[in-house]
Amino acid sequence: MGVLMFRAYTIASGKGGTGKTTVTVNLGTSLAQLGKETFILDADIGMANLGLVLGLESVPVTLHEVLAGKASVDDAIYEGPNGLKVVPSGISLQGFQNADPEKMKDVMRDLIGRSDFLLIDAPAGISKDGVVALAIADEVILVVNPELSSMADALKTKILTEMVGGKVYGAILNRAGMENTELRRHSVEDVLGVRVIDMIPEDANVRRAAAYKTPVVIKYPTSGASRAFRRIAADLAGSEYKEEPVKVQEGFVDRLARTLFGGATR
Ligand SMILES: Nc1ncnc2c1ncn2[C@@H]1O[C@H](COP(=O)(O)OP(=O)(O)O)[C@@H](O)[C@H]1O
Ligand SMILES: [Mg+2]
Repeated sequence: MGVLMFRAYTIASGKGGTGKTTVTVNLGTSLAQLGKETFILDADIGMANLGLVLGLESVPVTLHEVLAGKASVDDAIYEGPNGLKVVPSGISLQGFQNADPEKMKDVMRDLIGRSDFLLIDAPAGISKDGVVALAIADEVILVVNPELSSMADALKTKILTEMVGGKVYGAILNRAGMENTELRRHSVEDVLGVRVIDMIPEDANVRRAAAYKTPVVIKYPTSGASRAFRRIAADLAGSEYKEEPVKVQEGFVDRLARTLFGGATR
């Protein structure tokens, strides 16, 4: 490529709980690790949890205050891992009620072009602000689980994206099992009519890392999910994917988390 190009991606799925927030946070952190200036924005203003998974749940100014006209976007930008810039939404219902979704477009426009990458964590469903996120990004990345209901919702989101003049980059198959992976990849591509960018395995380390309010790519960098996130980030950044063997010592809290959430050590 040579020339640095700004890209805005909206991470969408239709259905809730497919892994949009997980993908946004871990792709963002991985892009930042590659030296790309990256912003992530929590556009899920009703069921916000992007701030929660990064330990930013009690910051004073969030997207809620920006959408209520009480603060500027710059006041709602926080530093995440690897220098990632994070714009969280508030978690209070009151804040949600005061937020004006009509202002979302302006906020997104304001953030677009400031950095190398902007990742927008889209709300589930087909709300007005969700549709704005589908239309405003350069490209939409669909997060799907290997389930019929998830595929149906992703297909709806793809059609909606194209209806509003947006473009789908591809799909990430999240929480994939180990069996018949190639078959799965092809059936997802057939049903959705988009490329499967990559697959992220079902990995207990994702939930273990969440207990520390730390992205899995930081907490358990050699886990299967972390490898997949770094591969996707390298794909988006147009850089080469490198394996980095990292050794982390397991402490008491790690053992506790492993007992609670299960999964291999890493
Ligand atoms: N690859 C994965 N392996 C295991 N758990 C996952 C994986 N991806 C997401 N999760 C878990 O699934 C739940 C929903 O993920 P989340 O990113 O919050 O979804 P969404 O933002 O689409 O609602 C969270 O508890 C998260 O930790
Ligand atoms: Mg979410």
